[in-house]
Amino acid sequence: MALTLSINGEPREIEADPETPLAYVLRNELGLKGTKIGCGLEQCGACMILADGAPFPSCAAPAASFAGKEITTIEGIASRPAGARVQAAFIAETAAQCGYCTAGLVVACTALLEANPSPTEDEAKSALAPNLCRCGAHPRVLRALARAAT
Ligand code: FES
Ligand code: FES
Repeated sequence: MALTLSINGEPREIEADPETPLAYVLRNELGLKGTKIGCGLEQCGACMILADGAPFPSCAAPAASFAGKEITTIEGIASRPAGARVQAAFIAETAAQCGYCTAGLVVACTALLEANPSPTEDEAKSALAPNLCRCGAHPRVLRALARAAT
């Protein structure tokens, strides 16, 4: 079935089962492989995208449920001023080890700075709690977030 989604500022028509989770549509139908799939259960944050500016896991919710929303993936994050700052800060602070969680964290940090341009460390930890990093890069992520906020 044809489904039209607005992704990174462009309407994209997709032939897919509308029940397919969005992350699989992004990766397999549209080649947007920056969005990673970890747990598949909305519990790790690897698949985070922005839906109308809010961070949302894309691994379980059906693609059709995003119809009418503006979706931003990691591929489009730099078009948002906060996203560009966050990406540059992640590079400057080397805020990744294996990198599997990184796209989700960049998306989550962007959403946080758009809502709260100068978060406290507690606010940052709370906002990033859904994003797990098994490499332990969180201290560097928090430094990158602080750098992007200033
Ligand atoms: S893969 Fe979506 S939250 Fe883990
Ligand atoms: S850098 Fe490896 S999971 Fe976060």
